[in-house]
Amino acid sequence: SNRTFTMIKPDAMKNGHAGAILDKIIKAGFRIVALKQTKLTAETAGAFYAVHKERPFYGELVEFMSSGVIIAAILEKDNAVSDFRTLIGATDPAKADEGTIRKLYAASVGENAVHGSDSDDNAKIEGSFFFSGLEQY
Ligand code: GTP
Ligand code: MG
Repeated sequence: SNRTFTMIKPDAMKNGHAGAILDKIIKAGFRIVALKQTKLTAETAGAFYAVHKERPFYGELVEFMSSGVIIAAILEKDNAVSDFRTLIGATDPAKADEGTIRKLYAASVGENAVHGSDSDDNAKIEGSFFFSGLEQY
């Protein structure tokens, strides 16, 4: 597939980085298929990250992801999932390459500015979590 799903996380929203992050995404050649600002509850964040339920950081992750507004978006580009993960950099910003979104805008492994789907299947599942077919252009 040529689509991926992203969120600009509460830390980046609060720190005023949403515009710069969207600019980087667009300049990297991604087309915005769908986009909105919304806020997760502990319940919806828990459902979105259900795959991580058994991980030790799950509680922190759910609390953080429901702590403020986010921007959710579906993005399109050749090789979208892999190219987007390259653009955002490693999960831990201290390990992220220079110029990546997490290197530029994230403070810690927990509060790491952006989400990017890790597979084509998950990109579809995650995009559908936030957007109906009628919201994707
Ligand atoms: P996402 O694009 O957000 O899925 O990040 P990722 O694929 O690079 O990492 P992963 O899916 O393994 O983990 C999901 C999210 O859980 C990360 O982005 C972090 O926000 C959070 N996370 C991962 N490891 C830790 C950790 O050790 N501590 C805390 N507090 N959060 C973590
Ligand atoms: Mg992940």
